[in-house]
Amino acid sequence: MFFLENTEIVENDRVGDGLYELKCRAPQIAGKGEPGQFVHVEIKPHQAASASPLLRRPFSLYGADAEQGVISILYRIRGLGTSLLKEAKPGEYLSVLGPLGRGFTLSGAGSVALLVGGGMGIAPLAYLADRLLESGCEVDVLYGAETACELVALEKLEQSGARCHVATMDGSRGHKGLVTDLLARMPAEKAADIIYSCGPFEMMARVARFSKERGIPGEVSLESNMACGVGVCLGCAVRLKAGDRDYAKVCSDGPVFSIDQVEFEAGEGGRK
Ligand SMILES: Cc1cc2nc3c(=O)[nH]c(=O)nc-3n(C[C@H](O)[C@H](O)[C@H](O)COP(=O)(O)OP(=O)(O)OC[C@H]3O[C@@H](n4cnc5c(N)ncnc54)[C@H](O)[C@@H]3O)c2cc1C
Ligand code: FES
Repeated sequence: MFFLENTEIVENDRVGDGLYELKCRAPQIAGKGEPGQFVHVEIKPHQAASASPLLRRPFSLYGADAEQGVISILYRIRGLGTSLLKEAKPGEYLSVLGPLGRGFTLSGAGSVALLVGGGMGIAPLAYLADRLLESGCEVDVLYGAETACELVALEKLEQSGARCHVATMDGSRGHKGLVTDLLARMPAEKAADIIYSCGPFEMMARVARFSKERGIPGEVSLESNMACGVGVCLGCAVRLKAGDRDYAKVCSDGPVFSIDQVEFEAGEGGRK
């Protein structure tokens, strides 16, 4: 079930270079939104004369506080929509559709979860970490970025109680290199009971190989350009396995898929 809410913006703050966190009042979405689900946001320019951007833009839930009725998203400026979104001010209103799609399967209390995220892929994983920790799981997060100042979710993750292991491409914080290099440091015996990943496609491909080698089940969140966001237009369809005749709709069959459903060598759908 999803809702269309006219939401009041509570905060829309710059949290890093080209990175913003938006919070808005959306009590119905906040009450139902699960980690891995996303919202579809209508972005209108202040000069109402233009209809562009016509299509809503999808963003993962970065948090959902059911008590306060507030949801948050973490976003990177990419093009017209996100450039306009960063100009939106507290007190203004946005039309938000959600929660949409299939989210992550929450593992049971006592299990150990390994979360591997790169870039904006950390957004759904940070919300997932909160929910897993609340339910009594242990959480290790491998978090990668280009440079230290892009690690904008690190404080939130550390405060929630997740064990964080960081990699940056320029070596400004943590391991210098790919976040997936850190997989080799995970204990050979039982690194985790389940793996969750979201980020660039090559990163998730490496995580999928690790999952297969170690026999650990996992889930990944894919990305695709979207139009309707609710399974009607087929605009987001991707072929999960080479040779498959059927296409999966990222917006309604996903965005979260079982890691072994996706053939990474030939596929599409990562997040930068
Ligand atoms: C399920 C889902 C969850 C997402 N969650 C987040 C999130 O939490 N934070 C975040 O910053 N971004 C997220 N994205 C990506 C976000 O939707 C796009 O960055 C945004 O729509 C770009 O809009 P724009 O108008 O600024 O850019 P546009 O002008 O539409 O495009 C600018 C550039 O971005 C590319 N682009 C546009 N949409 C996508 C897309 N969906 N995937 C990859 N490239 C795209 C275009 O090809 C173009 O090169 C998510 C996308 C999906 C499908
Ligand atoms: S975006 Fe329309 S079917 Fe997925």
